[in-house]
Amino acid sequence: MNRTYSKTRAAFKHANEVTPLGVNSNFRYAGEDTMVIERGEGPYVWDMDGNRYIDYRLAYGPVILGHGDKRVSDRIIQQLGRGNLYAHTHPLEIEVAERIVRLCPGVDKVRLSNSGTEATMHAARLARAYTNRDAIIKFEGAYHGNHDYVLWSTANMPIGSGGSPRSPVAVAQSSGIPYEIRGMVYVARFNDFEGMERLVKDKGGEAAAMVIEPMMGNAACLMPEPGYLEYLRKLCDDFGILLVFDEVKTGFRIANGGATEHFGVKADLYTFAKALGNGYPVAAIGGRKEVMDTIAFGQVVHGGTYCGNAVGTAAAVAVLEALEKENVLANMAGRGKRLMKGIDDILTEHGLPHFMSGHPNMFGLMFEPKTEKPKEFRDVIKGNFRMFDLFGSYLRDMGVDVEGDFREPWFMSDAHTDSVIDETLNIVNDAAKLVKQNYVP
Ligand SMILES: Cc1ncc(COP(=O)(O)O)c(C=O)c1O
Repeated sequence: MNRTYSKTRAAFKHANEVTPLGVNSNFRYAGEDTMVIERGEGPYVWDMDGNRYIDYRLAYGPVILGHGDKRVSDRIIQQLGRGNLYAHTHPLEIEVAERIVRLCPGVDKVRLSNSGTEATMHAARLARAYTNRDAIIKFEGAYHGNHDYVLWSTANMPIGSGGSPRSPVAVAQSSGIPYEIRGMVYVARFNDFEGMERLVKDKGGEAAAMVIEPMMGNAACLMPEPGYLEYLRKLCDDFGILLVFDEVKTGFRIANGGATEHFGVKADLYTFAKALGNGYPVAAIGGRKEVMDTIAFGQVVHGGTYCGNAVGTAAAVAVLEALEKENVLANMAGRGKRLMKGIDDILTEHGLPHFMSGHPNMFGLMFEPKTEKPKEFRDVIKGNFRMFDLFGSYLRDMGVDVEGDFREPWFMSDAHTDSVIDETLNIVNDAAKLVKQNYVP
């Protein structure tokens, strides 16, 4: 642990002088320990002092093939000499849409955007337009991007602010969101069958969409209980609500066909981003033809100067081709399973109570859960944040970068080989030993 961080700290200080908080996304801020990363390659990133980290944050999920992956860079470089943006459709846009339709059951048509936020914003508008209703149902602890209609009751909501479990309240996650929008956001608890039925019977007639991350990628990767997604599908059908799967994190990560392939339940609309571009800005809204065709002149507006830019779409073609041809995700899941089991065994051996959930390509780990099997966000936030933070800081000091907040997943990439997993597990073992020795309750 004899790493030094002087250049990284100095760079961060400098960043603070010209950028609020010294970061370009609030979520990257980690106080004075905020890292400044100079480069990445495969499963690794290096900070300004040349310290190497095995990266399990992977930019919050996008880097599915590894940093600087050659399959992606080669495609982009091939495209760059031909320009990037035109006021016209480009063949790469058609190819990305065709590939998504082929891979994702439930997706008949696709529009491209640039970020997950743009995708969920347009999906919400589409749902409102299609149903002629205004409200959105979302889940406590779920994050769907930065726009005003979804930045409510996310995983960052202060503990104790959510109201009664029978009637969760929508909590704004930022100043500057018009208060009036609160009346158009209904918050539900994940895996609460009965609560959702009550909500839909009461308010279903006003709800355009039920937006769900089919596994809670922003809340320790909790999984839906058996039958839960099927139950939501039926409620949506019965009450004329569009089911929207936000697959910004799960899409092209847990299966080629995302949550629908994995769980066997179809949504009406889907949003994809992150893994689609291996870190380049490209996103997609997809869904049933009838709903997607509401995007039409005089009906629903979707657009943007950079939508379908050739760099983003070249990256997406490279990723989708690798997923289809090379069985990337299934192979990754084999290694991810070994990593999960290794961590589980080590923590058990050191007597550190913990809970693991999710999918081997994207999983959650929390310490000291208060229930045997956490099922919803309110169970997650009862985990031991301080203990995980200590574990995370030991890991980082020994060269494994995980998010210090256990609500974020550990992400795998195609570049996390067996030997990278072995190295990780050795470090996890050392970090667990230190937590056991030094954690003060
Ligand atoms: C499930 C989910 N939806 C939407 C978003 C927003 O995506 P972006 O950051 O690309 O705007 C995120 C980002 O973390 C996400 O996890």
